[in-house]
Amino acid sequence: MSKVLVINGPNLNLLGTREPHIYGSTTLTDVENGLRAQATELGLELECFQSNHEGGIVDRIHEARTEGVKFVIINPGAYTHTSVAIRDAFGGVAIPFVEVHISNVHKREAFRHHSYLSDIAEAVMAGFGTLGYNLALQFVASKLR
Ligand code: DQA
Repeated sequence: MSKVLVINGPNLNLLGTREPHIYGSTTLTDVENGLRAQATELGLELECFQSNHEGGIVDRIHEARTEGVKFVIINPGAYTHTSVAIRDAFGGVAIPFVEVHISNVHKREAFRHHSYLSDIAEAVMAGFGTLGYNLALQFVASKLR
């Protein structure tokens, strides 16, 4: 069974209560449970990780290589727009990944328009709400088939 890792970055632990007009009312636990059920149907092994710390995310990406993770789905939150370290971690482990944003970052403030990850991502989702994670997992399954 191919292993897929879902990483959520800073403040995404607050999903459901955080700016619900932007991010909706679904909690991170709901999102992760939905992804686990979908992964079972798709015959994938899935692990979920959330951290508010840049270094914790970098460490988790490094561990993913040791664990033989085949694909990462990541919502890097605000680190999308700031983190050379997370970009370099993906470069270092050479694991393909999908970048997910719940909101359409291109419709928002100018500082959200640039991503340090998009040009090295396999695919980018933005503006699909939390459905974006499910669509990303479906894409990943098709790539791993
Ligand atoms: C986000 C968009 C980012 O700009 C923001 O900092 C987040 C969430 C999204 O899912 O839409 O924390 O990645």
